[in-house]
Amino acid sequence: MSTHELKAVAKALVAKGKGILAADESTGTIEKRFQKINLPNTEENRRNYRELLFRTKGAGQYVSGAILYEETLKQKAADGTTMVDLMNREGIVPGIKVDKGAVDLAGAPGEKVTEGLDGLRARCAEYYKLGARFAKWRAVITIGDGIPSAYCLEANAHALARYAKLCQEQGLVPIVEPEVLMDWSNSIEVCYDVTRRTLECTFDALYAQRVSLEEMLLKPNMVIAGKQCPKQASAREVAEETICCFRRSVPAAVPGIVFLSGGQSEAQATENLNEMNKLGPHPWELSFSYGRALQDSALKAWAGQQANLAKGQRAFLHRSKMNGLARSGKYDSAMEKELVGV
Ligand code: 13P
Repeated sequence: MSTHELKAVAKALVAKGKGILAADESTGTIEKRFQKINLPNTEENRRNYRELLFRTKGAGQYVSGAILYEETLKQKAADGTTMVDLMNREGIVPGIKVDKGAVDLAGAPGEKVTEGLDGLRARCAEYYKLGARFAKWRAVITIGDGIPSAYCLEANAHALARYAKLCQEQGLVPIVEPEVLMDWSNSIEVCYDVTRRTLECTFDALYAQRVSLEEMLLKPNMVIAGKQCPKQASAREVAEETICCFRRSVPAAVPGIVFLSGGQSEAQATENLNEMNKLGPHPWELSFSYGRALQDSALKAWAGQQANLAKGQRAFLHRSKMNGLARSGKYDSAMEKELVGV
């Protein structure tokens, strides 16, 4: 894999009007999503659901790539076509979650570190052969009393950088995801400060470990008040704080920033991205890599019933289109009405 190809993949993932679908829920996480629609977490149901997404006609207009869990990368649709082939037909680049999840960080109560570096080189080589062209590793940073510690930020940044360089060596574009959780009662100012510290620490490690900035994407949280904070910021404030924070800490050589939704509602995640792009032009493409904010209404509309397949696909296509429009600040909440009857 040449440097030229990695750059081309990174650019394609943040092409105008498009973003990434995070469909890489682990078997444990998809269980939580299925519980909401009372659906048993069987391999067949997981396959049917992911097949619904990747068979959505036209999704490739707005979805550049999709991150998969290992099971899906190796899985076949009901008719025997591989999921990878289904995605390629729709023009959606297959990606793969390569971390093995966050565990308690020793000596740091309430803080986490992400595992998965052992054997990663060989796994990346295998994933490339299976058709993956990019990867994701998520670090989890928790805001709380006296945390995050510098120790936690450094441990996670070190692992993210080691992962990123290994991916580049093996021909996969790394998505570097240091996620500052949005769950606490902190103000937007605290989120700004923690996000800035997290990004600075992450880029220090990326420089030290020789990661090529042109061949990666950053997947961060937005700068936003914690969910339990009584004072929630407007979309405009979120956009201004987020842009200010990122201009100060993310080098312009990074081709794109693809936000996670982190439990925001679908409309809120779209609106915030739209506001940010209205403030452009920016040094990097500002896009999405949403999980819940692209899938919640599709999952609900489908509800595990084959009879509702088309409804689920319409809901997914609609959300993808709304976020595709938010890529250039052209989204308007009135457009939500386009989705009638789902
Ligand atoms: P959410 O958009 O649901 O936060 O998921 C994105 C993701 O991939 C988190 O790792």
